[in-house]
Amino acid sequence: MNDDYVTAAQVGDVAPGTGKAVVVGDREIALFNVDGCFYALENTCPHQGGPLAEGWIDGAEVTCPWHAWTFKLADGTMTLGEFARVDTFGVVVDGDDVRVSRSPKPAPSR
Ligand code: FES
Repeated sequence: MNDDYVTAAQVGDVAPGTGKAVVVGDREIALFNVDGCFYALENTCPHQGGPLAEGWIDGAEVTCPWHAWTFKLADGTMTLGEFARVDTFGVVVDGDDVRVSRSPKPAPSR
């Protein structure tokens, strides 16, 4: 197992269709369960800091609960334009453990 990954939650902590804020290293991460597939994004919305873990999940997107900026769970890009994105992190499920990378994935190429 890659040492960069740390246990952030148990599978049962994040019900399908919900999100949960967790701490990984020195970052707050929004962990989402979409039909058993887990995604990890930086929890802090780049607009004014809204908590993305409390946002609305629709398919593979999350909408910030404060002013409705929407981000793709897979790569953190905005759905409305390219002026902001959030970091995303690798996730592996290891038994009951949900393990999240401490290092963000590279930004998607434009
Ligand atoms: S803080 Fe997220 S949309 Fe404004």
